[in-house]
Amino acid sequence: MKKLRSADWFGKSDKMGFVHRSWLRNQGYPDDYFQGKPVIGICNTWSELTPCNAHLRDFAEVVKRGVVEAGGFPMEFPVTSLGETLMRPTTMLFRNLASMDVEETIRANPLDGIVLLTGCDKTTPSTVMGACSVDLPTIVVPGGPMLNGRFKGECIGSGSFNWMVKEKVLVENFTAEDIHEAEIGVARSNGHCMTMGTASTMACMVEALGLTLPGAAAIPAVDSRKKVMAQLSGRRIVEMVKEDLKLSKILTRDAFENSIVVNAAVGGSTNFIIHLLAIAGRIGVELDMEDFDKLGSKIPLLVNLKPSGKYLMEDFYYAGGLPVVIKELKKYLHTDAITVNGKSIGDNNVNPVCYNQEVIATLDNPLQEHAGMVVLKGNLCEQGAVIKPSAATKELMKHRGRAVVFESMEDYHARIDNPELDIDENCVIVLKGVGPVGYPGMPEVGNVDLPEKLLLKGVRDIIRISDGRMSGTAAGTVVLHVSPESAIGGTLALVKDGDMIELDVEQRKLHLDVSDEELKARKEKWIAPPPVTNRGYVKFYIDHVQQANLGADLDILQGGSGSNVTRDLH
Ligand code: FES
Ligand code: MG
Repeated sequence: MKKLRSADWFGKSDKMGFVHRSWLRNQGYPDDYFQGKPVIGICNTWSELTPCNAHLRDFAEVVKRGVVEAGGFPMEFPVTSLGETLMRPTTMLFRNLASMDVEETIRANPLDGIVLLTGCDKTTPSTVMGACSVDLPTIVVPGGPMLNGRFKGECIGSGSFNWMVKEKVLVENFTAEDIHEAEIGVARSNGHCMTMGTASTMACMVEALGLTLPGAAAIPAVDSRKKVMAQLSGRRIVEMVKEDLKLSKILTRDAFENSIVVNAAVGGSTNFIIHLLAIAGRIGVELDMEDFDKLGSKIPLLVNLKPSGKYLMEDFYYAGGLPVVIKELKKYLHTDAITVNGKSIGDNNVNPVCYNQEVIATLDNPLQEHAGMVVLKGNLCEQGAVIKPSAATKELMKHRGRAVVFESMEDYHARIDNPELDIDENCVIVLKGVGPVGYPGMPEVGNVDLPEKLLLKGVRDIIRISDGRMSGTAAGTVVLHVSPESAIGGTLALVKDGDMIELDVEQRKLHLDVSDEELKARKEKWIAPPPVTNRGYVKFYIDHVQQANLGADLDILQGGSGSNVTRDLH
């Protein structure tokens, strides 16, 4: 085995060795803990402010059991945790900040291998991004989804139900008590959203990348088998350190391609694109937005989960989970891509059996033929935009409509339910100022609610276009991630009420039907909105954040700095 990184701290016999060991002695560690045991950092996104990750404190103890059994020295540490449901204006503003915390904490400390305990949406990409920039042996333990939501004898999905509240009250006459009951029934156990929202998408992403033990993604948080997975991951990371199985050995271009294919088949979130691009940027794998369309858009939808389908993560797990999907997709995958257990993704997924074809379909009889994300181009989105066909309305995929423009979220809220608003079901809602720089932080607002008067008329979907994101739990014909964004003067900034917009998903086209001369004239008169702040992290973020087509990472965080630290503290 190669010399342990932690030996640079604990293996010294000089003053610094004394300092590094001595204070840790107050925790009561015996001598042999400092004599060549791999030190395993358990990077914990536990926080009571992140309810989806609230159980990870217990999980860390289970991981430690595994680490100790395998002869390692576990050391748990907290990192910035991002909870979707409480943080304002949006967790996405802080994803890169959290990744810096993870990166610097790992590098600065005597760690040989890392276990990432994740759950809620951003806690997976932020920790993986940070870990990539250090590149130690690393394994992910996804915290798992909540049990299925239950309400009035039916299953309801977390996230997905929120988006229907306005509609339910208006159209189905839901009472305040109904909504109250649903509020409790949708969150019955520990875990993250149990739809195929962003958290479940991220769990599937890391499994498909080869960063988890096989089958980890779908196990519900409260299923005892999740703890078994955590314990086995603790054992395995010690071996990974001995084998020097670093992130960069697993995260090859092939692994990224695999995860794009798998994401399409599970009907994963549009946020997948932005996070995977950012991770690729950290580990140094070439990946661009077009790859998602090229590799994913022709992949059939196999998993029947909300918001694209009907079921929830618990059903997915009982049907066999991601291993069944991976086995089914074999012919589209690089089956020789290596995973954290040292075996290939193909070898790991030879035997899974599907127990419910209603939930996981076969390639011969898929839920949809072409399900992956589509990347649009055109004068309205020169660097691209994204739409998720599996969650969109078929009839709207080719459409020409009149723009109804909202200059900001505040403008939208002020006017959307005004009965005077000139809007019908053929219009296209254009929302500006919700991109990475503009909001700032690119919130999940792209799937704005329809105007009350259209909902009452029975309209359930119209095209919405913005430079923002959409929750992975949401659905609709929603064009997202328009780059360049409006706040930096992208064409989106120039759209006016009444302009005609053409969407043609089949042709990958998003076109603003306004002449180049007119757009040039509008651009000359355009004034950039003032930045929302001139200090602190947000100022730093605005100055350095890249556009959505590059993963919205900070420019200075691209790549990595490795695990070496040459200078000591005294
Ligand atoms: Fe945490 Fe949905 S709010 S996963
Ligand atoms: Mg979400």
